[in-house]
Amino acid sequence: MFWGLGAGEKGKPRKKGRLDLHSPKLKQDLLWAIIQNAPVAYIITDKSYRVKFVNNRLLRLRRLERDEILGNICYNALNGGVPCTACVVRKAMEDGRGHRVLRKDTMSDGSVVYTDDFAVPISVDGEEGLVLNVLVDRTLEMQFKEKTNALFLEVVRSLIRLLEKKDPYTSQHCREVSAIASKLTRYMGLDNNAVYNAMLGGLLHDLGKLHVPDSVLNKNGRLVGWEVDSIREHPVFTYLVLPDLESFKTIREIAISHHEKWDGTGYPNALKGEEIPVEARIAAVADTYSAMTSDRPYRNGLGHEAAMEEIKKNAGTQFDPNIVEKFVRMVDEGSMDRDTLTAPEETTTFVRMLQTNRLIQRRLKKAAETTGGHAQGCLPDSAVRGFTAHSSFADAILNATPATFTIVDESLNIIYVSSRFAHAHGKSVDDLCMEKCFDVINGKVTYCFEVKDGCVRCPVVRVFATGKQQYALIREEVAGKTQYRGTYAVPMTLDDIDGKPIRCCLLILFDRTDEKLAQIELEEDLKRIADMLYNFVTELTPGTTGNIDGVSGAAVSFNDYLEKMQGELAEMLASQGAD
Ligand SMILES: [Fe+2]
Ligand SMILES: [Fe+2]
Repeated sequence: MFWGLGAGEKGKPRKKGRLDLHSPKLKQDLLWAIIQNAPVAYIITDKSYRVKFVNNRLLRLRRLERDEILGNICYNALNGGVPCTACVVRKAMEDGRGHRVLRKDTMSDGSVVYTDDFAVPISVDGEEGLVLNVLVDRTLEMQFKEKTNALFLEVVRSLIRLLEKKDPYTSQHCREVSAIASKLTRYMGLDNNAVYNAMLGGLLHDLGKLHVPDSVLNKNGRLVGWEVDSIREHPVFTYLVLPDLESFKTIREIAISHHEKWDGTGYPNALKGEEIPVEARIAAVADTYSAMTSDRPYRNGLGHEAAMEEIKKNAGTQFDPNIVEKFVRMVDEGSMDRDTLTAPEETTTFVRMLQTNRLIQRRLKKAAETTGGHAQGCLPDSAVRGFTAHSSFADAILNATPATFTIVDESLNIIYVSSRFAHAHGKSVDDLCMEKCFDVINGKVTYCFEVKDGCVRCPVVRVFATGKQQYALIREEVAGKTQYRGTYAVPMTLDDIDGKPIRCCLLILFDRTDEKLAQIELEEDLKRIADMLYNFVTELTPGTTGNIDGVSGAAVSFNDYLEKMQGELAEMLASQGAD
């Protein structure tokens, strides 16, 4: 049963503000109230992309008047007359399935808006070929994510600045190796993750040289005895200093193995051939090219031709011959210009681009694998099937929204639940109606329902207290698994039998588990990187940490910064209530 008003049947008559729970009109009114009050934008388009329906939220989200969009082609009104790239509406029309994409739009006033964009094919009252587009505003979360990513890069840059302070040559060399190795990795057709690792691996591969005395690093002439040992320690030192994190695994391998040789005569582990990770074999070629073509205090660079000759000559002994062949071809084709290798902007933009959604995509992929393959967070098939069973317009819209809906009255009785909600709690709709909301959910939700009678930080209670929309991220343990629900609580009124208004609260829950877990993972990584950086600075240069270009300062204040960001986000989300 999709529709969920069943109070009278359970013998729990309402004391005041009686609703005629069996009235079809109330049902229809209620659904419309949800559609207009939900913090979700809806658009319905026909086969020729003409807009047949929009709700108020869409108009507010995109800052449009109703007559600017109704009856128009959707992309004329929403995308400056150009069909959207990766348009989910088109995809849904083509294959009859649900699709999802996260889109980024720049508004006419220059502000950037992120939207979770779902599209599902629907038929309404016999009209086929319509597509329902569901848009959920994700701007605040994405702003937070961008700040976190920027912070990650700051930490990496701090390491590079640290190296620069000690040894400008090595710092410049690391940037070059990063640029060459990532170009070569891309040229060889390896995936984006490998390119990302080549980029960071190159930047950090010689970090351990901070451990080598200046007199040895810049010595003009042959190194002897302990000096050789000291230089040869740098790959191991880099390996030990970088955090032992899954996301740093390949970067550490590049660091420790970039002086290994194809014929097994390298150091520190005398690895041979393919025992050396391919990323490190690529870095070795880039490392030699950069080292040979750079000027040192005690000698000028040997030049491009000499470096290429040296690399070709050592293919099969020092280097993987296959990689040398690719490198030579890449250089011959003009894909590498030494003078542009260190353009920092390219590096920065690229790292940011790759880092932004890497974790989320990994999580979504994992989720898709474990749930039988809904690609990249698409709506499950059941959502699409739901439409054919419910031809009513309002039913169709609500059933297609990837969220659960509940309406609670001022006594915290549930007066409406969507079938998705009931399903998520393993109960029938009838079981849940007129139950106290905290009886249904208490014990499962650990964030807001901390107290049995009423909930300390419950967004519903806050809605009745303030009359304003609330947002909370709720953590829930379901069948031993942690899940996160983005919960909007929206004030609304319904008319009772005598036409008097009854105050209610509409609760809309979106699944935010993948995003939240990815965020937690990224924050954990960042914390450990920051700890590593701080320990590194204090161990290496005792007593001088405060003086190294604010590097230690950045590390110390990292956790504070993160907390501040989280506080800001919570405030921003709470202030949505004023919307
Ligand atoms: Fe090195
Ligand atoms: Fe190097």
